[in-house]
Amino acid sequence: MSKQEIIFFQNTEENLTKAIQQIPFDKLFILTDENTQRFCVPLIQEINGIKGTEPILIGAGDIHKTLETLAFVWKTLGDQGASRHSLLINLGGGMVTDLGGFAASTFKRGIPYINIPTTLLSMVDASVGGKTGINFNGLKNEVGVFAPARYVLIDTEFLKSLDRENLCSGYAEMLKHGLLSSEKHWAELINFNIEHPDYHRLQDLVAQSVRIKEQVVEQDPFEKGIRKALNLGHTVGHAFESLALEQERPYLHGYAVAWGLVCELYFSCIKTNFPKDKLRQTVQFIKEHYGFFTFDCKQYDRLYELMTHDKKNDAGIINFTLLEEIGQIRINQSATKEEIFEMLDFYRETMGC
Ligand code: GLY
Repeated sequence: MSKQEIIFFQNTEENLTKAIQQIPFDKLFILTDENTQRFCVPLIQEINGIKGTEPILIGAGDIHKTLETLAFVWKTLGDQGASRHSLLINLGGGMVTDLGGFAASTFKRGIPYINIPTTLLSMVDASVGGKTGINFNGLKNEVGVFAPARYVLIDTEFLKSLDRENLCSGYAEMLKHGLLSSEKHWAELINFNIEHPDYHRLQDLVAQSVRIKEQVVEQDPFEKGIRKALNLGHTVGHAFESLALEQERPYLHGYAVAWGLVCELYFSCIKTNFPKDKLRQTVQFIKEHYGFFTFDCKQYDRLYELMTHDKKNDAGIINFTLLEEIGQIRINQSATKEEIFEMLDFYRETMGC
């Protein structure tokens, strides 16, 4: 997989101009959603080479990460004369960059694209590393391809206008990166005040977080091995997220990941001796900032069933990424149905739901 270039900056105009000069194209398209359009499109619309481009607009939120939306984007590209030499700019959160990346990498067998993430979640995770896709058949990111953006342009100024929920959502992926990397970075993250963020400090933490992800992706771009580490918290997190979607009470992705981390760190304690005090401190942080996802034991079977669809699974065995210590990763750890039910009991007791 070709390497994508990640650029941090605080001047969208200058950097986007440079990026588009590096990619030869015949026609340029911008994909964005209803939320991003109002606040973020004006920031790039006056740039030379972009001026006059009418954005392709899709509905906001995970409920629109569908085959129908994808077909709409393909159709609009086709109707507006996109060729194999056209360029797509995805401006938005993880939904826009995932779906837009998939649309670009499949339209006429692939056109180049640039990601400009506008949420914390897409800066530290979704827009980086070449995973693209849509939800399908009630399952998260069920269909997609690995296809990196040519450039990921990260303008941390966007963080200042982000609401609390979106900030917390992205921060859960940063917490995951902290757990995967070092005790020092994890401690920095759980001691940072996300309710009243110091944006200067947050920029540093974001840059560290992106580097952690980049290093993992460089070693294993197609997730044959160590990239599975980035799924810490996601086996259970995706099941929570899918159940919530089925029950029409969707949560932002990062909230589900945070609750998934509680479960998977518990498993880490039980199965790979992860230190209990670090589980306790991490759970405390998550309880304080994310609240909890409510369900009862009648939903255990459905949650288990959803976990059986996880992409890390092998020959029907549910595979978890666990930790022996902060920064000491154990991929391909299996668990029985009974153990998974015990883990869900632990979650409900600990979170008080
Ligand atoms: N979000 C996990 C990964 O990019 O591998």
